[in-house]
Amino acid sequence: MKGKLITFEGGEGSGKSTHVKLYTEYLDKKGIDYLFLREPGGTNISEKIRSLILDVKNNEMSDHAEALLYASARAQLITEKVIPALDSGKLVIIDRYIDSSFAYQGYARGLGVDYIKKINSFAIENCKPDATVFLNISPAQAFERKGGADKDDRLELSGIEFHQKVYDGYIKLIEEEPERFIVVDPSGTKESTHEKIVNALEKVIR
Ligand code: TYD
Repeated sequence: MKGKLITFEGGEGSGKSTHVKLYTEYLDKKGIDYLFLREPGGTNISEKIRSLILDVKNNEMSDHAEALLYASARAQLITEKVIPALDSGKLVIIDRYIDSSFAYQGYARGLGVDYIKKINSFAIENCKPDATVFLNISPAQAFERKGGADKDDRLELSGIEFHQKVYDGYIKLIEEEPERFIVVDPSGTKESTHEKIVNALEKVIR
């Protein structure tokens, strides 16, 4: 595989989606060719799996079924889109990837990292990210930054314990693989955070 794979990770309210967008706009301006994908999703089948997982009506879904569905959506994305793009030398950017499964299903839901590793080993076919940008803001800070709870906000107080577990999970992953992660503090201005991301990724994309 000749291309590079860059993933973006972070908790709810971390500003991840904003910064992925700013980064792809930067690549556009520079005329750098890339493929942008999001997880879960990115192919017809994976988007169908996404609606199944994220449908609030499916609250009887077991933790194992959820983890396997994320892995299935990922398997389809890898085979259909990621491997062909990397093989052709393209830069691939994904909004969330396997670390989300480690943090959310492995740590926060308590399924364990080994289980997530096992089921995803079938899904990812050795496609490990070359670099992963992590937007490092605690759930409490992210919540504070939003200026309080609103009813449709997934960061509302009742969920903060879960989001703290997700965050702690990410921190453990970073400790295990510090060389892969680019840890960015997003508490400054949007522009300064974007600049940090661009600078850190410069050596990865060249
Ligand atoms: P999305 O609305 O895209 O959230 P965000 O804007 O925060 O990325 O929904 C994705 C949700 O799926 C998010 O809550 C994290 C969760 N998720 C997992 O729990 N495990 C996974 O493997 C992935 C890819 C996502």
